[in-house]
Amino acid sequence: MGFFDFLTEDIAIDLGTANTLIIHNDKVVVDSPSIVARDRISGKIIAAGKEAAMMQGKTHENIKTIRPLKDGVIADFEASEQMISMFIKEIPALKKRLFTPSLRMVICIPSGITEVEMRAVKDSAERVNGKEVYLIHEPMAAAIGIGVDIMQPKGNMIVDIGGGTTEIAVIALGGIVCDKSVKVAGDVFTNDIIYYMRTQHNLFIGERTAEKIKIQIGSATEDLETIPEDMNVQGRDLLTGKPKQVEISFREIAKALDKSILRIEDAVMETLSQTPPELAADIYNTGIYLAGGGSMLRGLDKRLSQKTDLPVYIAEDPLRAIVRGTGITLKNLERFKPVLIQE
Ligand SMILES: Nc1ncnc2c1ncn2[C@@H]1O[C@H](COP(=O)(O)OP(=O)(O)O)[C@@H](O)[C@H]1O
Ligand SMILES: [Mg+2]
Repeated sequence: MGFFDFLTEDIAIDLGTANTLIIHNDKVVVDSPSIVARDRISGKIIAAGKEAAMMQGKTHENIKTIRPLKDGVIADFEASEQMISMFIKEIPALKKRLFTPSLRMVICIPSGITEVEMRAVKDSAERVNGKEVYLIHEPMAAAIGIGVDIMQPKGNMIVDIGGGTTEIAVIALGGIVCDKSVKVAGDVFTNDIIYYMRTQHNLFIGERTAEKIKIQIGSATEDLETIPEDMNVQGRDLLTGKPKQVEISFREIAKALDKSILRIEDAVMETLSQTPPELAADIYNTGIYLAGGGSMLRGLDKRLSQKTDLPVYIAEDPLRAIVRGTGITLKNLERFKPVLIQE
């Protein structure tokens, strides 16, 4: 321990395609959409997180909202660095400081991102005073957050359905044995709903409305135990141009999402078929763990369970399971060093 260690702060970041979360001193201190708003004239980032999200779909020509990690890749390096920096500066305990302390960080990143993008995340973190920066893959952090003992010689399957990607991984002995990342997750579900409303109801709706529908009545199957009430949806009639309202049921949304859920099912089946037999035997007993916001889609656990003939469990507080795991990794860094991404 060096003399200046009291100036170092530990933070865990889940850099998600839809949401970024930060844990500091065992508490979630940032939980914000991964969005920034840029002024086109000055080129400056003028808002990040919730403030930028409010502008989404409602900007004028001089302001543009950007999701820097939208499809599980870093589409805009500068915007993502600014976003990370703005979120770190939002941490209440650090805000009061006269200067930013040096940071020890573990950052969880989507597993689909390239070496170059990983390097960029690390460089960005170092530029915001990161003295020690470690990266961890999302399914690994999810497994730790769920409470799976990942160091055991026992196979576990994790399916993390986020905004941009669904990450499927079989983990054993602290490593990822086989994995798959598909670009079908929450964002695609939202677009499926927009497309469905346009083609079936001639109703043009925005992303935020579609997202609301997904959360309120979204379903992965028509075979639900508790049925959500029908929902009134407002948008613009494509034929008359007038604002219009239609009533829709969860059954319609289940139809709208069916093809995308099928693609996730296929990816899970493919990963299972690539799993070494000894680990497959373990998974037969332990089942599949779901995490990420997309896992909250009604009936998705049941549908996956029927498809795979395996028990399927949803993580507690699935939107926060990943940052929880990243936080646990940070707190037990020596023990978990082997599971971090090695360069
Ligand atoms: N109750 C819900 N039902 C279905 N989808 C949800 C629900 N709550 C959040 N989501 C979706 O989860 C996704 C975000 O999940 P998250 O795990 O934060 O993603 P990421 O890790 O990519 O940032 C979004 O697409 C959001 O719409
Ligand atoms: Mg995530």
